[in-house]
Amino acid sequence: MSFPVIGIIGSGTMGSGIAQVAATFNHKVILYDSNIESLKKGIQLIENSLNRFVEKNKLTDNEYKSILNNILIADSIADLKNSDLILEAIIEDEDSKKKLYSKIEEIVSPNAVLASNTSSFSIEKLSSNLKIKNRFLGMHFFNPPVLMELVEIIFTSETDKNITDKVKELILSWKKIPVIVKDTSGFLVNRIARSFYLEALKILEEKIADIETVDWAMKKFGNFKMGPFELMDLIGIDVNFSVTESVYKSFNNNARFRPSGLQKKMVQNNLLGKKTGIGFYDYKNPEIKKTDFNNIDLGNKIFTRIISMLVNEAYFALQEKIATYNDIELAMQKGANYPKGLLNWGKEIGYKNIINILNNLETKNKDDRYKVCPLILELEKTENKNDS
Ligand SMILES: NC(=O)c1ccc[n+]([C@@H]2O[C@H](COP(=O)([O-])OP(=O)(O)OC[C@H]3O[C@@H](n4cnc5c(N)ncnc54)[C@H](O)[C@@H]3O)[C@@H](O)[C@H]2O)c1
Repeated sequence: MSFPVIGIIGSGTMGSGIAQVAATFNHKVILYDSNIESLKKGIQLIENSLNRFVEKNKLTDNEYKSILNNILIADSIADLKNSDLILEAIIEDEDSKKKLYSKIEEIVSPNAVLASNTSSFSIEKLSSNLKIKNRFLGMHFFNPPVLMELVEIIFTSETDKNITDKVKELILSWKKIPVIVKDTSGFLVNRIARSFYLEALKILEEKIADIETVDWAMKKFGNFKMGPFELMDLIGIDVNFSVTESVYKSFNNNARFRPSGLQKKMVQNNLLGKKTGIGFYDYKNPEIKKTDFNNIDLGNKIFTRIISMLVNEAYFALQEKIATYNDIELAMQKGANYPKGLLNWGKEIGYKNIINILNNLETKNKDDRYKVCPLILELEKTENKNDS
């Protein structure tokens, strides 16, 4: 087994889930958190989750015990010195992460790999002061780690290729789906998914449809499991907004990622979604609103607009060689539960149709966010040539 001993730092939502996965696949896990209460809570989360598997007869009592026995609690970072891989899942704060890495660097063995579960920071930047840059990479799990199959493995210009390969093997051995992603803002899933939220917000701001109708259209015509507004409410409007802001900043204020003013106001007014009881929907006083659920033309218009933006972004990622064609397809299906891969979906809809939809939006709104990805234009030309 590669990486027999795995150290995990941070026992919150993500760290405890990843610890459970590693322990389930027979690694010795050493779990550390600077806050003893969080550590207790993390272990409790693992026990609750394992209990649910036992109740569903997916685990025996003995397996339950042996998984828990695989998890050891560390009193200090020094206890992680024999780890083959250390995965950091502490709060999303750049300084805290960097300070932690320099402490880890002092104690780890010469071959140990260090990985971060960050959702938004550049892996290259996080490792800029480290001596062990070649053994540093991103391992981006999705929430909840026990159930979500996708893991984005993010390499930098310094990461050893054989380390990326070994981590990929490890993820496969955990019956999960690894995709290899270049170190760019939002990596793959969080970057491409921006269009799902931002275009829905734009439609709402332009008063083309209400939230219920937009959510209905994406589920009815696109087979998405959740609509964009339901999903933003679940993720947390503040979390969703801050990811957009960070991607927008990293892409030098590219219009495609421009944050929504409406969403900003909601954050300022503490309308954060399910966790505060009110976001786009009111969870305290749920009401059935009269909507345009029978308006097939409107539903189609909403769906084609949002899907065209998603397809466009997926092609930008392909053009920029952020990941392979297959990995881009897998990432959105397994990391964001999309019903189909976006690149093939674009082919199905037809490049010409995508171009027309985006061109019309650009003319109407005089907004650069609708600029068609050059790769789509090129592919459409080739397709045209082959047809004639
Ligand atoms: N929650 C998600 O949906 C999600 C998804 C993917 C990635 N992430 C990333 O995973 C990381 C953890 O997120 P989370 O949601 O589990 O957070 P969380 O707040 O649930 O847990 C963070 C834990 O880190 C501990 N901690 C803070 N500073 C520490 C330090 N210096 N040393 C040791 N422990 C420390 C805290 O006590 C807490 O238990 C973040 O980088 C986040 O961006 C989160």
